[in-house]
Amino acid sequence: MDIYYFSYTGTSKEIAEWLSKKFNLKPKEIRTYKFPYLIWLFLSFIPYLPFKATFEPPFNDTIILCFPKWTFNCPPITYFLKKIRCRKLILIISYKGWGKKLYEHLYLKLASKVAKEIKITFIKQKLWKRGIYKNLESEFYKFVY
Ligand SMILES: Cc1cc2nc3c(=O)[nH]c(=O)nc-3n(C[C@H](O)[C@H](O)[C@H](O)COP(=O)(O)O)c2cc1C
Repeated sequence: MDIYYFSYTGTSKEIAEWLSKKFNLKPKEIRTYKFPYLIWLFLSFIPYLPFKATFEPPFNDTIILCFPKWTFNCPPITYFLKKIRCRKLILIISYKGWGKKLYEHLYLKLASKVAKEIKITFIKQKLWKRGIYKNLESEFYKFVY
C-alpha cells in the first residue's frame, strides 16, 4: 500500500502521517507550486482542472490519498489522479464542513477512471484536531486486506 498526501495548511499531512504510522509506512508527498490562497481559490472553482505536481511513482496496487476539499477541485490532486492507475483507492478528504456532496460526486467520477474499488471518507478539520477520528484506520482494514 502507498499513502500519498497533498496539504496546504497541514491537516491532510497530519492525517497521512498518522495513518502511515498505523500501517507502518512512509507517506509520500504530492508537491506543487506554493501559490497564495487567492490563486488556489480561483483555480479550485474549475472542476477537473489539473495543475502540475511531482510525486514518487506508486509501487503498490492500493493507494490511500489524503487531501483537502477545495471548492470543486484540488488541482494537484486532479493532476495526480489523471496520472496514476491502481486497484483499490481510498480518498480521505479533510474539510471545514461545507459542500461535501458535490465534491464527493466529482472525485468519485474521476476516481472511477483510476481504480476498480474506491472508498471515500470526509474528515472535519475541527474534529480531527480534537482527536475524534482515533479509529480511522479500522475503517480501512477490511477494504485494504
Ligand atoms: C482554496 C481553498 C478552498 C477551500 N474550500 C473549502 C470548501 O469548499 N469547503 C470546506 O469545507 N472547506 C474548504 N476549504 C478549507 C479546507 O478544506 C480545510 O481547511 C482543510 O482541512 C485543509 O486541509 P490542509 O490543511 O491539508 O490543506 C478550502 C481551503 C482552501 C485553501
